[in-house]
Amino acid sequence: MTDTTIMPPQVRPRASQPLQLSVIVPTFNERDNVATLFHRIDKALPGVVWEAIFVDDNSPDGTWDVVRQLSHDDPRARCVRRIGRRGLSGACIEGILASSAPCVAVIDADLQHDETQLAKMLGLIERGEAELVVGSRYVEGGSADSFNRQRLGASQFATALAKRALGVAIADPMSGFFMIRRDKFEQIAPQLSIQGFKILLDIVATARGELRTIEIPYTFGARLHGESKLDSMVALDFLGLVLAKLTNDTVSLRFLLFAMVGSIGLIVHLAALYLALEAFHLAFAEAQAIGALTAMTSNFLLNNFLTYRDQRLKGFGILRGLLLFYLVCGVGLMANVGVAFSVYDQEPIWWLAGAAGALMGVVWNYAMSGLFVWRKR
Ligand code: GDD
Ligand code: MN
Repeated sequence: MTDTTIMPPQVRPRASQPLQLSVIVPTFNERDNVATLFHRIDKALPGVVWEAIFVDDNSPDGTWDVVRQLSHDDPRARCVRRIGRRGLSGACIEGILASSAPCVAVIDADLQHDETQLAKMLGLIERGEAELVVGSRYVEGGSADSFNRQRLGASQFATALAKRALGVAIADPMSGFFMIRRDKFEQIAPQLSIQGFKILLDIVATARGELRTIEIPYTFGARLHGESKLDSMVALDFLGLVLAKLTNDTVSLRFLLFAMVGSIGLIVHLAALYLALEAFHLAFAEAQAIGALTAMTSNFLLNNFLTYRDQRLKGFGILRGLLLFYLVCGVGLMANVGVAFSVYDQEPIWWLAGAAGALMGVVWNYAMSGLFVWRKR
């Protein structure tokens, strides 16, 4: 019997040739697509030593189970199953960091990207001609045939905006199909955002022109099975990424949304107060309390729907979250009044004191809501 674990490293037999390429496949509800993709990649990479890492966010359709079976039959397939988390960019980053080949590619599971380009992409990187190769719909020879008019327009608008705002030079920074040298990726990985859909845009914007890039054309095909996970709200994710990159991560879209919801809350408060006074003839103190309660409730719902839509509370969690939110805002109100009071004490300018108090309140509410109400599970 031979036990390789006690052999010194230099005589330990290698399992195989050194790995050349890790292909990262983010998946969410793709059970009918993963095996087909795996076999197509295999066909597209003759003579290449590769592995595929599927990063699945605990898909309700059990994609991870299909991948596990695939992996059992062929160890070149591996599954990273994430529980309690969602997000395309985060999944890609985690998959790349869990892999080990000197080159890594990211490709969608739904066969909309063209896996037959992988060999060409690998060649360009291995020969040192590029550090990043992008599968592009918007260079000569590429296309997005399967897009409807509306989606094409939105995609082109976002592309133009990203190029302008972030100084990104490539034709298709919104592509989700690319290959990059591992060492280059690891250098910028700590600065990447795990939220949102646009990992390539993030990589290119973060690298600030430092990556030698080649774009190769491909045709964005039609999805084989299942449906797209992009909803209309991804526009928000996109704006968030542009904002974060423009301001060096100092301004977060989440905070702006939270503050915006807070301003809407003020209007709701005044409307409820007016109604309670005029229509229901309540005493002012009662009417004011009803106004505050209504505003907090609507703020909570709006934040749950918009600001924290990626961590949206559901079912019983909504009730628990609402009660915690009342608590957070209650303390925030005291902080607000306290700060306003002491500013007014120093400098009796009503609007300055009021604004200082309100700022204190929103920062407190934001920080504490993130910690206690929509905390990461
Ligand atoms: N792990 C994980 N978590 N995977 C996800 C998630 C998620 O939250 N959301 C989507 N995916 C996976 C899908 O299963 C699919 O393999 C891939 O990411 C792309 O998602 P689709 O839902 O198919 O998106 P699309 O076809 O609308 O968008 C594609 O085209 C865009 C270009 O217009 C993506 O490739 C985008 O990256 C690309 O920018
Ligand atoms: Mn797709």
